[in-house]
Amino acid sequence: MALDNLIDGRAIAEQIHGETAQRVAALKARGIQPGLMFVRVGEDPASKVYVGMKEKTSARLGIHSQTTVLPETTTENELLALIEQLNADNNVHGILVQAPLPKHISETKIYSTVLPQKDVDGFHPVNVGKLMLGDTSGFLPCTPAGVHELLIRSNVSISGAEVVILGRGNIVGKPMAAILIQKHKNANATVTVCHSQSRHIAEHCRRADIIVAALGSAEFVKADMVKPGAVVMDVGVNRIADPTAKSGSRLVGDVDFANVQPIAGKITPNPGGVGPMTIALLMQNTVRAAELATK
Ligand code: GUN
Repeated sequence: MALDNLIDGRAIAEQIHGETAQRVAALKARGIQPGLMFVRVGEDPASKVYVGMKEKTSARLGIHSQTTVLPETTTENELLALIEQLNADNNVHGILVQAPLPKHISETKIYSTVLPQKDVDGFHPVNVGKLMLGDTSGFLPCTPAGVHELLIRSNVSISGAEVVILGRGNIVGKPMAAILIQKHKNANATVTVCHSQSRHIAEHCRRADIIVAALGSAEFVKADMVKPGAVVMDVGVNRIADPTAKSGSRLVGDVDFANVQPIAGKITPNPGGVGPMTIALLMQNTVRAAELATK
């Protein structure tokens, strides 16, 4: 049976790109081109792919972007000096330092050094604090903001919904919870955050109207953990061995998609669900940074 319960992240991301491209055109008419600088340290293969995709999308939307690649041996001070230089450059509206960073560099220190008004990742403590306070003048982290936007644009009712978030990381789980508990018409959810020390995770999940899986464990969410009709958002990207694949491995999400899709009300495919939204929200944040810097 063909199921029509997919949340098409690619199509919704394209809608947002269309809106962003119009804002880029309006800036161009004023002689301004949004500028987004990427910094990548070391040769993490996934980071290379992610930054490459972000560069391509920037170019497509008319956002100027440039990537600085630094060696794995870069010191924290060298990276801080580069960020200070980008902070001082008026043509740079957004700065994105791709995580993970080498172990000898403190991510907290790096993300605290990017100017909050150029922090299109939403990782600076000022932006994290604004999110907690419900102050919408800051930047939201792109992945949880993308999941939120997917829910809204798929007409999922969030107010009063039981939401279970799997994972408490700073990039997805924690900000996702903060976004969904806001006193706001598209939020107002009852949020439970489960993590590695949680008990009865399956029971929590079975109560959920909406599950956001962001724990980084391949196909963790099984069909018997999902209430029929629940909305399932899969943030995970996990590489697993697959002898039948040409490369010997393949990417899967945090949801056992084949078995969960038949009972879910709506579900994100993976790939093609949350991933494209992360980039769409990054582009949106960058254009907003450029608008705010030049108004
Ligand atoms: N690594 C994984 N996700 C992200 C992200 O959203 N931003 C950055 N800078 N690095 C990441």
